[in-house]
Amino acid sequence: MLGLSRAGLLTTAEVSTADAARFAALTAQRADRVPLQHLTGRAAFRYLELAVGPGVFVPRPETEQLAGWALSRLAGATAPVVVDLGAGSGALALSIAHEHAGARVTAVEGDPGAIEWTRHNAAARATLGDPPVEVLEGDMTDPRLLADLDGAVDLVVSNPPYVPDGARVPREVADHDPPLALWGGPDGLDVVRGLLVTAARLLKSGGWLGIEHADQQGGSLPALVRAHGGFADVQDHPDLAGRPRFTTARRG
Ligand SMILES: C[S@@+](CC[C@H](N)C(=O)[O-])C[C@H]1O[C@@H](n2cnc3c(N)ncnc32)[C@H](O)[C@@H]1O
Repeated sequence: MLGLSRAGLLTTAEVSTADAARFAALTAQRADRVPLQHLTGRAAFRYLELAVGPGVFVPRPETEQLAGWALSRLAGATAPVVVDLGAGSGALALSIAHEHAGARVTAVEGDPGAIEWTRHNAAARATLGDPPVEVLEGDMTDPRLLADLDGAVDLVVSNPPYVPDGARVPREVADHDPPLALWGGPDGLDVVRGLLVTAARLLKSGGWLGIEHADQQGGSLPALVRAHGGFADVQDHPDLAGRPRFTTARRG
């Protein structure tokens, strides 16, 4: 807001009346549960700073671990094909492109409002020298989505909407994250069921799938992947707080 670094803030002599009033207004918005990232317009994710605001899901620190797992699966691959289903701000897709040289990444987003943010962030990263990420408007459950990549994808990663309908969420989430980013039907897994079909079609034999989920889905999501068939090495992973957070599997 003042255009100062944190260290500069400590040593600045004076704050103008106008800036003080603006700071008070921002503080009042935060007290009214507007997410901090909407007030600053920025969200940190791994090595990136992404533009966020009304209409797009604010990327969460937990998802950084899913990105880390995805990058570990790609280690050593020269030109892996990667698809991020439900890209939002582009956190996963753009981090993978930034951190794995040569990755050919496609970011799919179904919300016409959110995809404006995906496109904006992808263009901003390309301007900074990152490899281009293809941004595609589409439904991750569409049986024709990315049909040209059938059986050709090395890794599918997704942080899909997974909150069970009617679950209580903080006001920052309920009032400011887009509904399409959150709600996943009675057990939270409605979109995941369609995403599994898409992932199984896109992945090559030996390709990897990683899906983030809610705390209470650490048993149900791996069970769904096993029941789908065609996947091996199904595993669930905790986040840094020790809560079940994402499921991974290898296409058989
Ligand atoms: C929880 S947010 C995750 C966004 C981003 N990947 C992240 O981790 O910060 C889920 C995203 O999936 C998108 N989405 C929901 N249903 C979709 C569908 N059927 N097809 C494509 N995108 C979808 C939402 O609009 C939202 O941007």
